[in-house]
Amino acid sequence: MSLKGKCVVLGVTGGIAAYKACALTSRLRKWGVETHVIMTRNATQFVTPLTFETLSNHPVVTDTFARPETWEVEHIALAKAADLFVIAPATANIIAKLACGIADDMLSTTALATKAPLLIAPAMNTGMWTAPATQQNVETLKARGVHFIGPEGGFLACGDEGAGRMSEPEAIADGIRELLEPVQDLAGLRVMVTAGATRERLDPVRFLSNDSSGKMGFALAEAARDRGAQVLLVKGCTTAPEPTGVETVNVTSTRDLYDAVTGRAGEMDVIIQAAAPADYRPETVAEQKIKKAGGEALVLRLVENPDVAAAVGRMKRPGQTLVGFAAETERLGEHAAEKLAKKRLDLIVANDVTRPGAGFNVDTNIVTLLTAEGEEALPMMTKREVAERILDRVLTLRAGQ
Ligand code: CTP
Repeated sequence: MSLKGKCVVLGVTGGIAAYKACALTSRLRKWGVETHVIMTRNATQFVTPLTFETLSNHPVVTDTFARPETWEVEHIALAKAADLFVIAPATANIIAKLACGIADDMLSTTALATKAPLLIAPAMNTGMWTAPATQQNVETLKARGVHFIGPEGGFLACGDEGAGRMSEPEAIADGIRELLEPVQDLAGLRVMVTAGATRERLDPVRFLSNDSSGKMGFALAEAARDRGAQVLLVKGCTTAPEPTGVETVNVTSTRDLYDAVTGRAGEMDVIIQAAAPADYRPETVAEQKIKKAGGEALVLRLVENPDVAAAVGRMKRPGQTLVGFAAETERLGEHAAEKLAKKRLDLIVANDVTRPGAGFNVDTNIVTLLTAEGEEALPMMTKREVAERILDRVLTLRAGQ
């Protein structure tokens, strides 16, 4: 396996999940990955350095006996050697330190110095994970390109239930493999992804829109980029951190989206429409702010916007793969199948947006993939995982085209 000889620096911080980092270390060693473990002082309370030393076959760096002067040499050496830097388990504390650039121990010092990509597997009490400070730190790190895996939901060691459990070592190992040896199965393909909500102006200070955050479209753009595609992202109004390394076109209204998408559709091999365009717009846009009418009801007249996906379907050329989404609140399968046919899509990703863990503004989704051949219901997974499954399916469809 070509992972042989790759260097992973594994930071282990203080949490009960530190024991799972042992299984991770041994799996990496089996793959021939050179694994150098750095433990924080607290981590050594949960697992001994000797355990990691034995499993990794390398000396373990800890703060327990090291004097600060020795950090200078060691942290630079490890920071330079790393092909990938992994922190598993990562406490709220190390996440906060990384977000702020604090370097006050061997692990945080090395992590700050490295140029290697960083993968973080958080593990903590659910209250700490959902705390605004932690969430903001995570967003900051994600915006800098740091990769996250987990945490998962379930029973936590502290007796609470909720998100905070570290991902299983197998899942983290797979994440490591993907980062060290990215699959480039979309290389050579031009992929357009639409994301986010559109806005329809009502007056100078108001608009009509919807709850789409752009997360699903962004996950698709990032996954396609990482798999080697040349990505064009057409984005409406979004609240999630934006992907880097893709060409981006910003749009506001559904008509802008229509122009941007139909203008470039001809160049694309794959078009994935995850945007939530407003179906209607006010017939007229008031030039001045609309004033209250003294108790009278305000009647808005809305006119229908163009259907972008349907237009792309009409323009479809041989060899193109078209993917749409269907956000439904009832009769999911039936409505999605209608849209699949009407918009001439090859695949429709249907989700019941009323289910917890699905739809707008959350990091997970529960979707059903529908093609002319049949449907596959996927369990709840992160939007990134959903994106990977959609792209897998696109490749299968293209192989059969
Ligand atoms: N879509 C589009 N243009 C629109 C509305 C929707 O391109 N004006 C696309 C979406 O990006 C999505 C698919 O069509 O890929 C289905 O969107 P959805 O809102 O579920 O369906 P609609 O066609 O708008 O139908 P309805 O709102 O009646 O359910």
